[in-house]
Amino acid sequence: MSNIPLASFDGRSFAAAQSFLLGAKTWWTRRLYPAVYSDWQNRVGKLPAEPTTAAEAEEILMQDDRYVWFAWLERHLQRMKYSGRYGLQPWHELQRADIEAAYDPADLPEGILNLNPNINMPSAYTDIDIHQHPGGIWQDSIAGIVYERGARTTTPLAGNQHQDLHDRLVMWIERHGGLPEAMVDLGCGFGKSTRPFYQAWRETQVVGVDIAAPCLTVAAHNAASAQACNVRFLQAKAEATGLPDQSADLVTSTMLLHEMPPSTIKATFHESRRLMKPGGRMVHLDFWLLPDLLRRAIHYGHARRNNEPWMEPWAETDPVAIMETVGFTNIRIEAFEEADGIMDSGYDAWRFPWTILAADAA
Ligand SMILES: C[S@@+](CC[C@H](N)C(=O)[O-])C[C@H]1O[C@@H](n2cnc3c(N)ncnc32)[C@H](O)[C@@H]1O
Repeated sequence: MSNIPLASFDGRSFAAAQSFLLGAKTWWTRRLYPAVYSDWQNRVGKLPAEPTTAAEAEEILMQDDRYVWFAWLERHLQRMKYSGRYGLQPWHELQRADIEAAYDPADLPEGILNLNPNINMPSAYTDIDIHQHPGGIWQDSIAGIVYERGARTTTPLAGNQHQDLHDRLVMWIERHGGLPEAMVDLGCGFGKSTRPFYQAWRETQVVGVDIAAPCLTVAAHNAASAQACNVRFLQAKAEATGLPDQSADLVTSTMLLHEMPPSTIKATFHESRRLMKPGGRMVHLDFWLLPDLLRRAIHYGHARRNNEPWMEPWAETDPVAIMETVGFTNIRIEAFEEADGIMDSGYDAWRFPWTILAADAA
């Protein structure tokens, strides 16, 4: 039985605590990171030999108390966001019955959600509580809602513009070709990446695929509330969707590849190719282009602190070689501007290394 006093669970205290955590993370992003960066620049030029690997760079970083503090805060602000007295998990636990009633799959319109209770979940996915989300996002019926609330503050600096990220991907795809008749969004989560597609392109038939039933249930409920008629959600592995050959003009994913082991990434590129009609396109948005060793070392540290074991192997993978082997053409890898001004030279806050990985079917 919990020994936490009930009074600490009122909505106001919860909101105040979460707001404090967001404020602290914003400070970490905007103030602490630039200071770490400047410490690094001051130190690295004076070393007898410059580091040549991310591991060597991290060893040097760890001699800087400010970086140790930066790393500690990253780990523990995230932990406190989800767990402990004011965490998202215990707060939503109190509302379990209401959430389960509001997001009951049985209340959904016919055909919008196709769950597979017999899906074989890979241990590479289930073995770790991704993002420090207690129990991960795949097994608890309320995990989709807890994840949705948690994702609102993943990149605090961008604020409302964070929402923009997914809309910007739609705009990027529009600038690089016509609208698809049919598309698949792999690793769609609770539907945040899928929604801009089905809302912007009303004539396009959209399938959102994910392995996590609690997330898909939230995605389907949100689509039903928005009265979307051109989307459906499917519980399947991105690397083996079971969808028909050549059924999509466009295959996308956002923040999926870095959650996969290398063999699954390869299989996902093969699956994308199988799903694509001749002349179809594939556009993955993920974290990949790292401009220098410092940022690579910090990114690998972030991966460990955020329980993302596949992020580093993915950043070390050569996606062009895989795409060439699979038989894609017109391969493009480019940095992605997730919010206005974020790639300007004066922008010095922490950010994810957003990258577009796009290719066409021959
Ligand atoms: C970081 S979330 C991104 C969700 C969404 N695309 C977005 O942009 O908000 C990654 C998603 O990929 C899903 N995922 C991870 N491995 C998968 C796999 N092998 N097959 C299908 N989905 C997978 C996870 O369940 C999670 O919902």
